[in-house]
Amino acid sequence: MQLFDKTTPIAVIGAGAMGSGIAQVAAAHGHRVVVVDTQSAALENARKNLEKALNRLAEKGSISPENAAEILQRIRFTTEKSACAGCGLAIEAIIENLSAKQAVFRELETLAGEDCILASNTSSLSITAIAAACRKPERVLGAHFFNPAPLMPLVEIIPGIATANSVVETSRRLVDAWGKTTVLAKDTPGFIVNRVARPFYGEAIRIFEEGIADAATIDWAMKEIGGFRMGPFELMDLIGNDVNYAVTAAVWEAFFYDPRYKPSFTQKRLVEAGRLGRKSGKGYYDYAPGALPPEPVKSRESGEEIFFRILAMLINEAAEAVFWQIASVEDIDLAMTKGVNYPKGLLLWADEIGLDKVLEKMRRLQDEYGEDRYRPGMLLKRMAREGRRFYQ
Ligand code: NAI
Repeated sequence: MQLFDKTTPIAVIGAGAMGSGIAQVAAAHGHRVVVVDTQSAALENARKNLEKALNRLAEKGSISPENAAEILQRIRFTTEKSACAGCGLAIEAIIENLSAKQAVFRELETLAGEDCILASNTSSLSITAIAAACRKPERVLGAHFFNPAPLMPLVEIIPGIATANSVVETSRRLVDAWGKTTVLAKDTPGFIVNRVARPFYGEAIRIFEEGIADAATIDWAMKEIGGFRMGPFELMDLIGNDVNYAVTAAVWEAFFYDPRYKPSFTQKRLVEAGRLGRKSGKGYYDYAPGALPPEPVKSRESGEEIFFRILAMLINEAAEAVFWQIASVEDIDLAMTKGVNYPKGLLLWADEIGLDKVLEKMRRLQDEYGEDRYRPGMLLKRMAREGRRFYQ
């Protein structure tokens, strides 16, 4: 099996937000990195942003000014993909488009050495479909970093159906050595985080659409009662309603239109209106200077009802992911706490509340609405019946 150390050169294809962040992480851990992009302007931009980010770290005292300069010196920016020759690992972070990614992987296969591991940072495409473009799909896998890559600790490692175990192990060990927390996920839509987190947004919007509560009240309930760092509407405004809608729509389609993941008209209309959130100045909230934030209705009783409805949906989703062997119980909890900062792993939370209570909530919702969206998962039902817990 191939082993990596700090002398292994790394290639990053795509110099956008993710590519430059990943390059920073690898260079900060001693690797020489080559960043390749078709656009010189994107490369120049990435270089400037990296310089700024590293200088900021030096000003804060997180790294020395010499260290900041060394990290930047280790990174080379080029439009020539042939610069990938000799790299041990190439991480692709170009636009989210299957045929564009397949074309890049086909090129990488001939330009990089026979032993180079080829990883994709895709958040919604099938790793197996990307790998299918290659002669040696066994060296292709997913390495899904979160934004911003230098700060977010989680990386989902996703083998395609042909990926060799040694490729998974080597890559995982390397990314772990970069100080990241890696979790292993099956190659299914949304992997772990973008699948299990869907109800955090979707059920919150549903409660809003039904007129049960406004955005500020739902956000208040999730933070104040649930302990989440941000409420769903604040978070959607931060992520961008266009980006969040696109992920929801992609997961829904990829699951053959399972009603659990159905996007909402509320979010679609916001996107159509250009109310994308913070970046456009308006989303669920108004970010104009001087705009007053709306006051939540701070009723503990209805707040608890809102929080538990969303939490039960999240737990049901996490339990479904265990049932379908998307990842282990531990990795699902790690993914949600490290990837999206949940205050607690959902499956640990389920144990603490009692699976019977979560199941009862799901059954009540399903009974009231009569919608498949609220069906309790098989594993949740079986475990509740047998009085089992996710952790012993
Ligand atoms: P971006 O749009 O900021 O950057 C993409 C870069 O790829 C651009 O600089 C573009 O010029 C370059 N590019 C396009 N085609 C190319 C090609 N054939 N060869 C070389 N360079 C090419 O995109 P971003 O946000 O950095 O995302 C990159 C990937 O990471 C996507 O697959 C996305 O789904 C995934 N991702 C994005 C996250 C995010 O929050 N932005 C989080 C996790 C994954």
